[in-house]
Amino acid sequence: MSRLKTNICGVEFKNPVITASGTFGYGLEYSKFIDISKLGGISVKGISRHEVTGNPMPRIMETTSGMLNAIGLQNVGLDRFLSEKLPVLRKYDTNIIVNFWGKSIDEYVEVAMALDNEDVDMLEMNISCPNVKEGGIAFGADPKMTEKVVSECRRVVKSKPLLVKLSPNVTDIKPFAKACEEAGADGISAINTLLGMAVNVNTRKPYISNVTGGLSGPAIKPVAIRMVHEVYKTVSIPIVGIGGIINWRDVAEFFLVGASGVQIGTANFVDPEIPLKIIDDLEEYLEKEGVANIADLKGEVIL
Ligand SMILES: Cc1cc2nc3c(=O)[nH]c(=O)nc-3n(C[C@H](O)[C@H](O)[C@H](O)COP(=O)(O)O)c2cc1C
Repeated sequence: MSRLKTNICGVEFKNPVITASGTFGYGLEYSKFIDISKLGGISVKGISRHEVTGNPMPRIMETTSGMLNAIGLQNVGLDRFLSEKLPVLRKYDTNIIVNFWGKSIDEYVEVAMALDNEDVDMLEMNISCPNVKEGGIAFGADPKMTEKVVSECRRVVKSKPLLVKLSPNVTDIKPFAKACEEAGADGISAINTLLGMAVNVNTRKPYISNVTGGLSGPAIKPVAIRMVHEVYKTVSIPIVGIGGIINWRDVAEFFLVGASGVQIGTANFVDPEIPLKIIDDLEEYLEKEGVANIADLKGEVIL
């Protein structure tokens, strides 16, 4: 499977297929259904300093071509993640990316500093969750705040590559990408969910108790492709492309606009085997096309 090897921020991945944060639990839940060692990597559910129960139900709704969610960053918290989840996850032969967030800059820094000393392959700062009042988007909607929170974390993250996950809920993503690069981020993940809303015409109430939620799935792929393309033209650090991927063609498309790796999110809810199928299909496609390595597609879109 050497055609699929990719390097993201100095870390070797046996293939570019990573499962996206929040759609694959802590990985372990899925180990009953698929061989998670075949994945290039797993980005775990966003970790915060303390355990979080999330927003009230209902918090998930299926839309025409994707889903709306307002989970509210529910997670077991840093201590339980380190003691209960990470040691089991580490038994699998795949890269572990720890997605994390905070309600304040101090909390981001505290979690980042703790994770820097743990046996994980990469950190991914989520500054883009649309479903929580504090944290997340508060830092990802103003380039100055982005610069500040990323540079504070960079100061304490000394031994791990640091990805920053950007929000699509901005008019122009380029200044945010630039702010991350200038603050010392090693790479960018793009995109998180798009803010949306759906209303039940019988009850006349929103389907989601939070009123609004994050839209994900195939509906958002063209937005994600456009944004990865813009980020690629703006910065020189690696990009992990996310948004609506359901098959190998989608992955090839993200590489052509500049991604060095991809994450699969909502598709895992449809069929947990999709990431493994994509890996096999990608290998076959590259072989048929005579492409020696998937990285040869990177940024090769013809405009
Ligand atoms: C139910 C759910 C929970 C999510 N939780 C997180 C999270 O904790 N941290 C994060 O950075 N992104 C989170 N995301 C965003 C996904 O990682 C991904 O960026 C987004 O769903 C777009 O990809 P997709 O269209 O392939 O699903 C979540 C998405 C969903 C659907």
